Amino acid sequence: MMSKKLFIQTLGCAMNVRDSEHMIAELEQKEGYTLTEDMGEADLILINTCSVREKPVNKLFSEVGAFKKGAKEGAKIGVCGCTASHLGGEIFKRAPYVDFVLGARNISKITQAVNTPKFVATDINYDESEFAFGEFRSSPFKSYINISIGCDKKCTYCIVPHTRGEEISVPAELILREASRAAANGVKELFLLGQNVNGYGKRFSSTHEKMDFTDLLKRLSDIDGIERIRFTSPHPLHMDDKFIAEFASNPKICKSIHMPLQSGNTKVLRDMKRGYTKEWFLDRAERIRSLVPDVSISTDIIVAFPGESESEFNDTMDVLERVRFEQMFSFKYSPRPLTKAAEFAGQIPDEIASERLTRLQSRHNEILDEIVARQKGRVFDVYFEELRANGGVAGRSFNNFLVQVNGSEELLGKTLKVRVDEPKRMVLYGEVV
Ligand code: SAH
Ligand code: SF4
Ligand code: F3S
Repeated sequence: MMSKKLFIQTLGCAMNVRDSEHMIAELEQKEGYTLTEDMGEADLILINTCSVREKPVNKLFSEVGAFKKGAKEGAKIGVCGCTASHLGGEIFKRAPYVDFVLGARNISKITQAVNTPKFVATDINYDESEFAFGEFRSSPFKSYINISIGCDKKCTYCIVPHTRGEEISVPAELILREASRAAANGVKELFLLGQNVNGYGKRFSSTHEKMDFTDLLKRLSDIDGIERIRFTSPHPLHMDDKFIAEFASNPKICKSIHMPLQSGNTKVLRDMKRGYTKEWFLDRAERIRSLVPDVSISTDIIVAFPGESESEFNDTMDVLERVRFEQMFSFKYSPRPLTKAAEFAGQIPDEIASERLTRLQSRHNEILDEIVARQKGRVFDVYFEELRANGGVAGRSFNNFLVQVNGSEELLGKTLKVRVDEPKRMVLYGEVV
């Protein structure tokens, strides 16, 4: 008998990417599925969804509609992830041909879901932090590892705590074991994941060795064969001196860090319940830049949060000017169900939001052009991990620039020195030296 085929589409953040890997492992090992990239031949179609802004949610229904049209006779369709968590069985009403709904905190039930008609599981208290998933890695070069699940922060605009539940740290011994196994398989890079990744150690799911994020980084960097450690998303509030010192001095920790600003104005930050001020953020960023001169700092910014005035928005522009982020992800505020901010007075008209977003992005592009131009002629250690659609091979520098050279498979998995000849905003083109 031919093996059953699985097609999976993953939206959202890196945690969803890892969840998809977990589901693939379960389905391959327990249900005999093999992956396909051709939706039309799939027996099972999964969409792993994101709920963080309204757009991805609308996209979900247009995409499951398209799946239904393109799917072969009798194919099952499952909706998983964060939108599944907060819409649950409602999804059947808008898309009756969906076969099951599996929330972000319930993905360990994937084999049960595929075998039970109209299965729904969306419990955010369900604890699967120690669930023994099978092994599946989408990349042989880089291992994603969940170190915590859920988020306790309750930022007033954010739906994540409602889709992923309360924050639980995965026991350190499990993380260390997973990392050692990855290293034994030849993986050189670890990518630690959590919505509040540097809040690690806050609450363990049972009685295990207690450890904070900085100590976990130290322990992971002791593993032979691991050359690079990255992590996302850290919270600026938890970037204490101990952490920054380790970040700066540990030669295995990649010199790039995500510092999600959200807003540069202290009052807006308070309304968002972020827990830090403009000054704290600037102080942390300056400290990191002074201890790690080559660091790349990325950020997330929300414009037009309810009540944000023109001068408050200008504080965000001011922080951009001072920190000069190497990478910026920016969004118009989007009211989300179950969140406090959706009820706040002072919701801002879309024209104003769009204008602020454009101003922010235009200025950032200018800054980025200056940053990028300065990379010409520099030599980076690049860990090659990706064949590019336009030919060539790409990888990341230690400080997270995407670097591409001419070449093919034989470069994959190698770390080589590359001189940048043609720097572009998204990719630095160069030559192996
Ligand atoms: N845990 C991460 C964020 C995860 S969500 C952190 O604290 O940084 C990813 C990004 O989406 C957020 O950083 C924020 O910039 C954006 N975002 C979240 N909710 C949003 C909303 N309601 N409207 C617009 N952007 C939002
Ligand atoms: Fe959402 Fe805030 Fe948690 Fe990030 S830290 S996931 S923005 S609640
Ligand atoms: Fe989206 Fe859920 Fe991640 S809402 S950003 S997929 S945690």
